[in-house]
Amino acid sequence: MQPVNLGLIGCGTVGTGVARLLLERRQLLVERTGIPLVLKYVADLDHQTDRGITFPPGVFIDDAWTVVNDPAVDIVIEMIGGTGIARELIMAAIANGKQVVTANKALLASQGNALMQSAAAAGVDLAYEASVGGCMPIVKSLREALVANDIHAMVGILNGTCNYILSQITESGLPFDTALSQAQANGYAEADPTLDIEGIDTAHKLAILTALAFGMRINLDDIYIEGITAITPLDIQFARDFGYRIKLLAICKNHGASVEARVHPAMIPEKNILSHVSGSLNAITVSGHAAQDLFLSGRGAGMLPTASAVLSDIVDLARNLRCGGTGRVPLMGYQPDRIKPLPVLPMSEIVSHYYIRFAVQDRPGVLAAIAGILGDNAISIQSVQQKDRKTNGWVPIVMLTHHAKEAYIQKALKEIGALEVVGPAPMLIRIEDDNAQD
Ligand code: HSE
Repeated sequence: MQPVNLGLIGCGTVGTGVARLLLERRQLLVERTGIPLVLKYVADLDHQTDRGITFPPGVFIDDAWTVVNDPAVDIVIEMIGGTGIARELIMAAIANGKQVVTANKALLASQGNALMQSAAAAGVDLAYEASVGGCMPIVKSLREALVANDIHAMVGILNGTCNYILSQITESGLPFDTALSQAQANGYAEADPTLDIEGIDTAHKLAILTALAFGMRINLDDIYIEGITAITPLDIQFARDFGYRIKLLAICKNHGASVEARVHPAMIPEKNILSHVSGSLNAITVSGHAAQDLFLSGRGAGMLPTASAVLSDIVDLARNLRCGGTGRVPLMGYQPDRIKPLPVLPMSEIVSHYYIRFAVQDRPGVLAAIAGILGDNAISIQSVQQKDRKTNGWVPIVMLTHHAKEAYIQKALKEIGALEVVGPAPMLIRIEDDNAQD
């Protein structure tokens, strides 16, 4: 069969993995697809780093524009990342009629609607499996495998760096900074790791998945985002005492006329399958009306796992090219004119169970004062623990609540925080537990 020519832009961690799979698994790919996939260009300014790959002469070049402008290139693979030059190159590739593969979740989350519109108008495919969940085929699942399902909800662990950090603190008692350095050394973290630990990378991924699942426009701006930097070993220990684990979750739920889409640390029961997802693994549970509950898990970051997902896109697009063209699957899983303007509920409207930790002075009446304020705000307490873990004269009191509205919880915390006997900055962690008492 006629070869398909590929141009790779960006040869960092994932780009190197893509080049390696294309060159080292050339035979396997031909056996599976029947299509010779030819790596015509790899564009990167860094010629010094030893990537452990010997490129054929003329393949490794400086200039990314050669890749998007050469008529011989069929598929452009954007592995630069970021929202600047990457966007310009993708737009130029689309304008030149090329198929595009990207793993760029930051770009898709912020400008995906416009990019998809341009690609659809130009009649080219834009594939992005590796933008969410590394090797885990969640995009393909939503766009294709679950096509006959109303998707009710998804709960995911979508950032390998955060999951690695929380796992290391929980299982080995490692300090936060050491765990983060290890995640960086393993190639999981973003160039700017604040995107990971502040929950922003997870929100990028959730923005893409929520749109795919519910047939709505990508809407990063309305996603509530809270990272893991405030989580303390004390909270992790309390979580254990209550039979929970703390994970950074991406949650979306379909309420019909509106959706929930939020990223924050949450306590989940030890017996929840997501509790057992450790280290850099990602996982997601999807609930659909026909398939019911689905669980996917796999490496969410790292060179070859992410490259594995990029290769699946490359092969999809190459097969489309050789079997009669593009547009077989709509880019966002729905016909563009059927994408709905569903609003994301503000966080104040969310109903959840809560873990609240106060630092208080250990004297009579303190508990009653706190309980009184919670009661005045229609918040019902499920259980209370005071443990003798005194730090700087304060003791922690921990409360779990029944279902409560976020707006009321926030109001109560403000009032409780103003009490003289209560220390600053109470800790609030939402609990995702389907079996907790209402
Ligand atoms: N920084 C991301 C993570 C890489 O830690 O999961 C994959 O998107």
